[in-house]
Amino acid sequence: MKTQVAIIGAGPSGLLLGQLLQRQGIENVILERRTGEYVLSRIRAGVLEQSMVDLLREAGVDENMDAEGLPHEGFELAFDNRRERVDLKELTGGKTVMVYGQTEVTRDLMEAREAVGAQTIYEAENAQPHDLESDSPYVTYEKDGEVHRLDCDYVAGCDGFHGVARQSIPADRINTFERDYPFGWLGMLSDTPPVAEELIYASHARGFALCSMRSKTRSRYYVQVSNEERVEDWSDERFWEELKRRIPDDVAANLVTGPSIEKSIAPLRSFVAEPMQYGRLFLVGDAAHIVPPTGAKGLNLAASDVNTLYRVMVKVYQEGRTDLIERYSEVCLRRIWKAERFSWWMTSILHKFSEEEDFNARMQRAELDYYTGSEAGLKVIAENYVGLPYESLE
Ligand code: APR
Ligand code: PHB
Repeated sequence: MKTQVAIIGAGPSGLLLGQLLQRQGIENVILERRTGEYVLSRIRAGVLEQSMVDLLREAGVDENMDAEGLPHEGFELAFDNRRERVDLKELTGGKTVMVYGQTEVTRDLMEAREAVGAQTIYEAENAQPHDLESDSPYVTYEKDGEVHRLDCDYVAGCDGFHGVARQSIPADRINTFERDYPFGWLGMLSDTPPVAEELIYASHARGFALCSMRSKTRSRYYVQVSNEERVEDWSDERFWEELKRRIPDDVAANLVTGPSIEKSIAPLRSFVAEPMQYGRLFLVGDAAHIVPPTGAKGLNLAASDVNTLYRVMVKVYQEGRTDLIERYSEVCLRRIWKAERFSWWMTSILHKFSEEEDFNARMQRAELDYYTGSEAGLKVIAENYVGLPYESLE
């Protein structure tokens, strides 16, 4: 089989890239290790920056998002039993975010792909890129016990943090930068009305908590837990009790509890691989970088990588401009590092790092107090939260 762009991974990165390319007449095949149902069962983030919303529109997948997504003009930071609002719209000259789940984005993209008749091979095992430094790379994979070969011009590694794409770059051609945090987030999804109209990020002596949502009837809540914690030890009741203790009293008083639909623990990590290109292979999204979820940047960074690679590919196929290929990595990384900084900073000011009320804890309080009490401080938070602009290629 032959195609122009072989895409490994049918997460949001692979599906969005595939859809944008397809609409420009650039043929692509997606190889996904799992089934479509499995991909949709993973509950992930839910806040889309304006530029990602615009990119989804360009990909023609805006109908459900417009019908069901919730535009948000602000969010709250809670600490010391106080609630401080970050008025995104006011502070950024009109920018907002859209609360719409990654699961929904993925489903919309899968349906759009099916509608245009582009090929996705699910349950493709042992995908392996070859000859990436040549003009004719290819990817082998196994399906139903047989080995297949997909010839292509370029390979897009959209296969997430544990994928094969990054690992197929020789060790002396890639550098990685990493920070692990000594805690994770225990998330819970429930069919209960959200406790507030906007997201609340709460810093508390017992640990961080986040009140988020998927719709007017479905809530998503998180509490910081240590890395040793096991999800089996968290009954719904225990979760609700812990959440209530960490959010301001007036918010807790409004909390509607109910049975959980899903509960899972995600570790927190910062990670960047450089460069994001090796020969004819490009790394996209989680394959190249991870951010802790505190700034809601993971999915949005994947979209900005897709935007850059898409525009490079359009120039390659429509104008023969192969000179832009080597700009992909630097353009992506400039924006990635700024989002890494914001996610790391939000993580560092909102989480509990030690049992004692130590110097670090006092610094966190001072940062929250200072940033939320200053117009300049609020602007810094708002500008990053709505998303920094996409860089143009030229
Ligand atoms: N072969 C084929 N597919 C693979 C392989 C492989 N060797 N390894 C992983 N995959 C698939 C995974 O099963 C998954 O469906 O690649 C996909 C990667 O998807 P994600 O992990 O969702 O990564 P990405 O598409 O980059 O999405 C951006 O940012 O912060 C996060 O929550 C956000 O998951 C989202 C991510
Ligand atoms: C979510 O709704 O899952 C969510 C929202 C904001 C974040 C992280 C996760 O910062």
